[in-house]
Amino acid sequence: MATFFPGESHTFSEYLLVPGYSSSECIPNNVSLKTPLTRFKRGEEPEISLNIPMVSAIMQSVSGVDMGVALATEGGISFIYGSQTPESEAAMVKAVKDHKAGFVESDSTLTPDMTMEQVIALKDKTGHSTMPVTDDGTPRGKLLGIVTSRDYRPSRDDHSKKVAEFMTPRAELIVGDKDITLKDANDLIWDKKLNALPVVDDNDHLVGIVFRKDYDSHKTNPNELLDANKRYMVGAGINTRDYAERVPLLVEAGADVLCIDSSEGYSEWQKRTIEWIRANYGDSVKVGAGNVVDADGFRFLADCGADFIKVGIGGGSICITRETKGIGRGQATALIDVCRARDEYFEETGVYVPVCSDGGIVYDYHMTLALAMGADFLMLGRYFARFDESPTSRVNVNGQYMKEYWGEGSARARNWQRYDLGGAQKLSFVEGVDSYVPYAGSLKDGVNGTLYKVKSTMCNCGALSIPELQEKARLTLVSATSIVEGGAHDVVVKDSQQTVSYN
Ligand code: IMP
Repeated sequence: MATFFPGESHTFSEYLLVPGYSSSECIPNNVSLKTPLTRFKRGEEPEISLNIPMVSAIMQSVSGVDMGVALATEGGISFIYGSQTPESEAAMVKAVKDHKAGFVESDSTLTPDMTMEQVIALKDKTGHSTMPVTDDGTPRGKLLGIVTSRDYRPSRDDHSKKVAEFMTPRAELIVGDKDITLKDANDLIWDKKLNALPVVDDNDHLVGIVFRKDYDSHKTNPNELLDANKRYMVGAGINTRDYAERVPLLVEAGADVLCIDSSEGYSEWQKRTIEWIRANYGDSVKVGAGNVVDADGFRFLADCGADFIKVGIGGGSICITRETKGIGRGQATALIDVCRARDEYFEETGVYVPVCSDGGIVYDYHMTLALAMGADFLMLGRYFARFDESPTSRVNVNGQYMKEYWGEGSARARNWQRYDLGGAQKLSFVEGVDSYVPYAGSLKDGVNGTLYKVKSTMCNCGALSIPELQEKARLTLVSATSIVEGGAHDVVVKDSQQTVSYN
């Protein structure tokens, strides 16, 4: 006879945290959100920890280069989507690794034969008045000069004048060498009273520009997630089919951690993929696996050597797996079960395998709940898709700004490898939808606002760290009627906008 799991399977909105004692030490500024990303032995430190418990989903509509840079700046990590060729995925990984914090790639590069009229038009479009001039007009071309608003007077000059005639030529420019640190670049800017410092390589090709103002903003990112060479950390999705071809390219490009991206991870395919990585790279290549929803699945992947394990089937906002295939489990119940298995595994083996709660986070408080239930970190798709840094453009839908967001199992993404069960046949059904999510501005503002809420709830529970929250949290299931009680009720809300909150 089939196995029946005891009890019902619940989701985040059916739980609440019951506050505990908070001492006067319990203030958001004292809370640390540092959390392990990869497995470690008792008494040792994980090789990679996150400074905030957030990673971005392995999805075309979420994790590209800009997301990788923006999230690492805040202390989390992005997993570049794997549903593209190994070469283009590796190029994205490399772009994140090559990104030098504070070294800006110009979006208003000129050529010497452009006219002042074109310069004025470009300045109006980008809002940037410092414009490098290169031989081919690209931000990586050979540097020939620079134009700033001090070089021309639109009200008096002839607008047909060529850039070559009024730019400050290369010979008169102070430049930084490609290996210059941001601190040294900033010192040069101050010593020489510059507004911007172009940085060039050995062939005088532009590498980037350091602006006076950017050093300060860089200094305000104390959580940045950096590798030993002070480069941003980035992850990458892989599948259980082409790993022998894809993994070497990603490793070569500098990926710090990989993750097998699959809707269902309790499989021999994942075992083979991890075995291949261990046989070829030992423990030096870190790889997460999943997704699972119970203790058996966790133990299987932990024994296979996964560096972290993702939990969640069917809870994603764009996911219709449960409707299509009838598989899955309520995200909260699955998470609690798997985290219990992780703790037992740690007791037995002395090896701690971090757990990632993947999908189904709708409100900010769901994040705190997931951490309290035992998650070490969270994978978020919808949440990050809403920000400027997701790869899609902002569109106006009936007067409201939206970003597009589609599932990896949708007909649009056509990520069949994620759902591959080993046969040669292509799947004939979809497990995800194509959708819009409300635009939410910059990642930095969004993440900081969310994490402030998470930290203050942790303080209500008397916890100053994630492990402390997991130990002290007191959770209660709520009835359907008390969920109604939790929102504004029995009043006529004056401004309907007050109730429209996606977090
Ligand atoms: P969200 O944060 O609720 O939007 O969920 C994101 C998660 O949904 C991802 O990290 C994946 O695990 C999962 N996912 C992505 N695409 C699909 C799909 O097309 N069908 C089912 N699940 C998906």
